[in-house]
Amino acid sequence: MYKQLMLDAVMAREKAYTPYSNYKVGACLLAKSGKKYLGCNVENAAYTPTNCAERTAFFKAISEGERGFEAIAVVGGKDGEPLSPNCTPCGVCRQVMLEFCTKDFKVILGTPEDFKVYTLEQIMPYAFTPAEL
Ligand code: THU
Repeated sequence: MYKQLMLDAVMAREKAYTPYSNYKVGACLLAKSGKKYLGCNVENAAYTPTNCAERTAFFKAISEGERGFEAIAVVGGKDGEPLSPNCTPCGVCRQVMLEFCTKDFKVILGTPEDFKVYTLEQIMPYAFTPAEL
């Protein structure tokens, strides 16, 4: 199952809009409903409005009514080069994951051929969560 999510993330990456960094990222988010949501990074000339692939996938899913999530696969790297083994979600995306996911949410990183499965708690320890409020 994780391998398929990685392959779907590779497919999502093909749509990345990255004229400024040429660093293309794809994500495949698996909801508890069983539905998958694809996301890519979408850059902007003003830089700050850039949206990461992970958040694109989350916001698509949330806006479709999804609220429970199992896992997300993320792949990335420079356009025209092999996928990076080190494309990990930025801090903002980790915080967005915390808003909608439990600590055992799975984050799959690496490449379809060589990936590791982390929990959200592993990649975002000591987090500020909605439980505080
Ligand atoms: N980026 C993502 O989409 N997700 C990540 O996990 C890391 C970074 C994007 C943002 C920007 O468009 C480009 O990669 C370079 O930072």
